[in-house]
Amino acid sequence: MTNLEMMKVSETAIKLTSLSSKGGCGCKIGPGDLSQVLRQLPQAAPDPNLLVGLDTNDDAGVYRISDELAIVQTVDFFTPIVDDPYDFGQVAAANALSDVYAMGGKPLTALNIVAFPIGKLDKGILAEILRGAGEKVREAGAALVGGHSIDDNEPKFGLAVTGLIHPDRIRTNAGAKPGDVLILTKPIGVGIHTTSIKRGLLDAEEIRQVTSVMTTLNKTAAEVMEPYASVHACTDITGFGLLGHASEMARGSGVGLRIFDSQVPKLPRLRELAEAGSVPGGTKNNHAHVEGVVQFPADMDAIGRLILCDAMTSGGLLISVASADADELLAGLRQAGVAAARIGDVTDSHPGHIHVLE
Ligand code: CO
Ligand code: CO
Ligand code: CO
Repeated sequence: MTNLEMMKVSETAIKLTSLSSKGGCGCKIGPGDLSQVLRQLPQAAPDPNLLVGLDTNDDAGVYRISDELAIVQTVDFFTPIVDDPYDFGQVAAANALSDVYAMGGKPLTALNIVAFPIGKLDKGILAEILRGAGEKVREAGAALVGGHSIDDNEPKFGLAVTGLIHPDRIRTNAGAKPGDVLILTKPIGVGIHTTSIKRGLLDAEEIRQVTSVMTTLNKTAAEVMEPYASVHACTDITGFGLLGHASEMARGSGVGLRIFDSQVPKLPRLRELAEAGSVPGGTKNNHAHVEGVVQFPADMDAIGRLILCDAMTSGGLLISVASADADELLAGLRQAGVAAARIGDVTDSHPGHIHVLE
């Protein structure tokens, strides 16, 4: 694409996020509805090489090829979450690649998944989405090997990603152990912020900030965590929000979690924006879904609870690490430029439950 054409694209007044009612991982089908559907899948014959499959609600599937090698496979796509098409491509790619990092794998190849109203929107917009994604895939060190596109009323974009992992070094969400420390590597609040973009409530600097949270790869965080055998579990925070994904870790691992609200890194102005009505539907669904397994502090109001359930897109890694290594891992993450924070710990009481403390 020439520079002139690129300028033309950025000058078009099309607001990508106005083309759909929900954006990013907020357009996921809710966990309740999804599990009802998945329950009806026919039982597959057990396959000893399927190391991580459907039954654990994990980030990606893992299939063993040999004693030294397994493949990690994942797919993610959604409607535009930001208006700039290049940024949208970057966010979609960082988000799709994230599930490979969350399993402890290294991305190898990626395929584009495109739905686009080709007669209605400028083709340059699609070119920019693909350029943004392609640059993220390259930053991840993976190869873009193809894709598939359909003509659709509403734009949607994402990627299917395949990664490699050693079969003995898989980080599922099911291995957290009592005594572990919980580390989160990105702030929460992306759902509330991106809903605020649609409603014109964020300034340019705030839009830049939330976009950079979403376009940051979990690559560095995954690389810093890689040598630690004491990382017992890991997942990335996306559509089901911090408490939704944490509750899957609690249930999958058969442990209780304590999360300290004041320690959870958050994007600025969340309360103010939520009070102004910028709470996405996905966030409310998440809250309803975890209500039975989360005990909030008695004096925490509805907004405070919703913020912890906010539907993320391309969120950080939630890492459960043995307490003996927690300080060192946290220092290593920060030294590598990852805005990581210690947000709680793992207990043996109330398995499957989360206690939120102030
Ligand atoms: Co995930
Ligand atoms: Co995913
Ligand atoms: Co994982």
